[in-house]
Amino acid sequence: MPSQTKPSPVKLYDFHPPIEDFRSAVLRGLSLPQKMLSPQFLYDKRGSELFDAICQLPEYYLTRTEMQILQDNAGEVAAALDHSALVELGSGSSQKIRILLKAALQVTTYVGVDISRQHLQEACAALMADFERLDAIAVCADYTQPLPIAAIPELQNHPTIGFFPGSSIGNLEPAEVISFLKTVAVLGDLIVGVDLKKSPIILEPAYDDAQGVSAAFALNVLTRINRELEADFDLSQFEYRAHYNEAQGRIEMAIASLCDQTVHLSDAEIPFCKGETLRTEHSYKYTIDEFQLLAMEAGFHPVQVWVDKQQLFSLHHLRQM
Ligand code: AVJ
Repeated sequence: MPSQTKPSPVKLYDFHPPIEDFRSAVLRGLSLPQKMLSPQFLYDKRGSELFDAICQLPEYYLTRTEMQILQDNAGEVAAALDHSALVELGSGSSQKIRILLKAALQVTTYVGVDISRQHLQEACAALMADFERLDAIAVCADYTQPLPIAAIPELQNHPTIGFFPGSSIGNLEPAEVISFLKTVAVLGDLIVGVDLKKSPIILEPAYDDAQGVSAAFALNVLTRINRELEADFDLSQFEYRAHYNEAQGRIEMAIASLCDQTVHLSDAEIPFCKGETLRTEHSYKYTIDEFQLLAMEAGFHPVQVWVDKQQLFSLHHLRQM
């Protein structure tokens, strides 16, 4: 059963996976030939703060461009929401939703789904304070897993629409996008933000900024593993790397080992060779056509797509066929 906290005015449904899942997922990922970690693990409290800082970076055009698209098309996007309960997947600090809530006065129920519990609760509380009409409900969960809608009474007998901004969908492999879209089809229509393909000259600095915030964000996952799983990663012996793989249409983010070394985690010894990488993220970029084709393979049909003037970013309205 999900637990509900009392002191916060925000209703919380907690489906956060247990810590043992984190340990076994990390151990599994670190024993693969290409070591890797699921991007969801980047978002502990500190990781969420660092990601918010990334969104403010001059190089990271995604957030402000998507906000601009929302601003410029607020009326149309608001109309697309109709009277549905707005379910935001990976809501983070819920800034984008504010633009929509200002334009869509008919929307009175908001459900934020995020893996970062405290961050999510604070964001929902702030929304309730700023939008009087609004009932904001926090669902702490891994949104790539089927959403337990049946366990959220506020969503019973209420049409819903999914809002998945930020190009978070870019973290999934294209084949996973299809199964993900099929999973979230329970929500009805979808509004989804997708970063567009463009020159590596723009892309690479967005993922490896001058101030080193992107690097700190990736390396923080090692700090988290040290703290929560009592491991002994020496952060001075690793460095962050980001590279645009043009053939695959994705930014590849990784942490590289600066020397031959052994890391201890639980009873396991994890060897790293000098130069060996631990993958933290893929961030896929799509043309409008590529993404619409994927959506159609998942049983959606493209209703509308909004793009900024510079064609950096796209916002798709998808409907179930
Ligand atoms: C949250 C997946 C949209 O890929 O742009 C940004 C994550 N990682 N900088 C992205 C990220 C490093 C971000 N998404």
